[in-house]
Amino acid sequence: MISEIKKIGIIGAGQMGNGIAHVCSLSKYEVILNDLDKDNLDKGMATIQGNMARQVSKGAISEEQMQAALDNITPSLALDSMSEVDLVIEAATEHEETKRKIFSAVTPILRPEALIASNTSSLSITRLAAATDRAEQFIGIHFMNPVPVMKLIELVRGIATDENTFKTAKQFADNLGKTVAVSEDFPAFMVNRILLPMINEAVYTLYEGVGNVQSIDTAMRLGANHPMGPLQLADFIGLDTCLSIMQVLYEGLADTKYRPCPLLVKYVEAGWLGRKSQRGFYDYR
Ligand code: CAA
Repeated sequence: MISEIKKIGIIGAGQMGNGIAHVCSLSKYEVILNDLDKDNLDKGMATIQGNMARQVSKGAISEEQMQAALDNITPSLALDSMSEVDLVIEAATEHEETKRKIFSAVTPILRPEALIASNTSSLSITRLAAATDRAEQFIGIHFMNPVPVMKLIELVRGIATDENTFKTAKQFADNLGKTVAVSEDFPAFMVNRILLPMINEAVYTLYEGVGNVQSIDTAMRLGANHPMGPLQLADFIGLDTCLSIMQVLYEGLADTKYRPCPLLVKYVEAGWLGRKSQRGFYDYR
């Protein structure tokens, strides 16, 4: 039984995975950052380096802390590298089939006592846990974006998650200096259950011509004191992720109030996914 995490495997080096590797390595965990795509992995490592360098230039961390943290991260292209970890955190695309495939591939490699977490932002932890051989040792650890900045972690137990897994995950979150909010295993948990309908409503506001992109974002930044307007935030999260979460809410809660805005669907179909594709509600080219 694992009750203290030392070595962590992170699957997926995208914006969430590299952010998780960033904070874990700075908190002195040994990290293996895995991605099946070499370009993604290189990009993830470069992002960590760039974000840490910015922290050094702002005096948030020292040069030595940055070097030690970077030395704590081993990039990896093969899942075999997960054989020694205490905890694996899956941070792949918000797509259930993809996550299930990862769990089927990685569970035979893990030590039997290793814990498994998903950083899913909306999917059922109980259902994902059932795709592994250890539902008792499975938990939702949901980080917020940008991971190095945002203080919250949502912890989500599946129906079978045992107390040791929960306590160990809570200790891990505490060690990262994050604040935990515990959510029941419902579609999109708490943050995204509340945040995404707001973003979807902002897209409807645009779709119906109530305001343009700038006026909607200005309204919410200055009128509600949000650090980013909802359309800017949607671009930041990724419009494909926003749509996936709305679909999980719509299907999981069977209520038309969660119907994804047709304009959001159209943007995703066009490949306009926000910052990561250089185009969303704003143009980043
Ligand atoms: N790594 C490290 N530090 C970072 C960073 C990163 N990736 N991104 C920003 N920062 C730091 C900056 O260095 C800066 O540090 P100082 O305060 O020490 O100067 C600080 O964060 C603020 O950044 P900026 O000055 O560049 O810009 P800003 O003031 O506009 O803040 C922001 C940027 C923190 C992203 C802010 O706009 C914000 O909080 N936006 C809302 C983010 C949000 O709502 N996230 C939740 C998304 S939902 C989610 O994540 C759930 C999901 O599953 C979809």
